[in-house]
Amino acid sequence: MIELSVIVPTYNERPNVGELIRRLGVALQGIRWEAVFVDDDSPDGTAAEVRAAAQADPRVRCVQRLGRRGLSRAVVEGVLSTAAPVIAVIDADLQHDESILPAMLARLRGTATEAPADVVVGSRYVAGGGLDGWDAQRERMSRFATALANRMVATGLSDPMSGFFMMKRETFDLAVRRLSGEGYKLLLDLLASLPTPPRVAEIPYTFRPRRAGESKLDSAVLWEFSLLLIDKKFGRWIPARFLLFSMVGISGVAVHFAVLTLLYQVAHLAFTASQATATLVAMTSNYALNNSFTYRDQRHRGLSWWRGLLTFYAICGFGVIANVGVAGFLFERQGWALAAAAGALVGTGWNYAATRAVTWRSR
Ligand code: GDD
Ligand code: MN
Repeated sequence: MIELSVIVPTYNERPNVGELIRRLGVALQGIRWEAVFVDDDSPDGTAAEVRAAAQADPRVRCVQRLGRRGLSRAVVEGVLSTAAPVIAVIDADLQHDESILPAMLARLRGTATEAPADVVVGSRYVAGGGLDGWDAQRERMSRFATALANRMVATGLSDPMSGFFMMKRETFDLAVRRLSGEGYKLLLDLLASLPTPPRVAEIPYTFRPRRAGESKLDSAVLWEFSLLLIDKKFGRWIPARFLLFSMVGISGVAVHFAVLTLLYQVAHLAFTASQATATLVAMTSNYALNNSFTYRDQRHRGLSWWRGLLTFYAICGFGVIANVGVAGFLFERQGWALAAAAGALVGTGWNYAATRAVTWRSR
């Protein structure tokens, strides 16, 4: 029976696979462990490398996901693929110190002097932990994000942004259906999604420089982090993406009036032509903004950008019909303001649902 499953999310980590498995073997002697690599179809052939290693070591498995990207969701799939009672999450690039895994496991189970924990976090910011080779600027940014996260979600942790942690299966199960899954901060997501605060503990470690390959975290990561925080703060009432979609919609109204004023009032073009142009410009700007922000993780580029735009036009065309239809129906009974608001809400709701299903089909 397996005691501990180590989940390793990978994207282009081929050169690190063998070394990580070797180090896990050294660190976890005496523990019945397995390693589940969850690879998002890395072009460098990470999955093939893992399967080759699995031929030599049955403790190693590979879950390969096609057509999808996302660190948190990859880890979730890895956890769902195992029956182990305890799960650890660790990066493939050897930045996390695998040698503290036994101490984490002991802390989870509890000792003579310490109560068991539900979640044990490898922490860079607790006494004894550290950052190897980080400049002051990077450390400041990391500490700022940590403070922000702790303000939004009271975690009681020094390092809630850690990607290195261990948890009980029951704890994960309590949260799995409520997770946002956005971005790469699964620990924060987990802590914010649990119905009651878990018992947490931290073990210090020094965050090492990446061994081989390069980091995947770019500007999109900052964006996904904000999306996660919004979702955890307001997601109970309103999905984060709907909030963003609506904000983009409001910006579209401003764009519409700006263009209309320019064409109709300033350039003295015919009203219908001005109105039609303003509508088209606003729709295009809404599409571009939603594509860059609301659906940044599913962004269309190149030819696909134009195809997405066409579906967006078509869907929003129906949205206008729904909007005007509802508003017209309510106008007689409820007065113009309520009718207009209801029309806008139904139109936006339709646009959101339909573009989410067609233009940015969630993967
Ligand atoms: N399956 C999958 N899909 N894995 C991914 C993806 C993805 O889209 N993106 C990144 N990974 C894997 C990488 O291959 C690596 O094993 C791990 O996730 C972390 O990615 P890095 O690109 O090395 O991230 P980092 O070093 O900048 O960030 C790390 O530090 C943070 C703390 O500062 C991560 O460990 C974070 O989880 C951690 O919070
Ligand atoms: Mn890394």
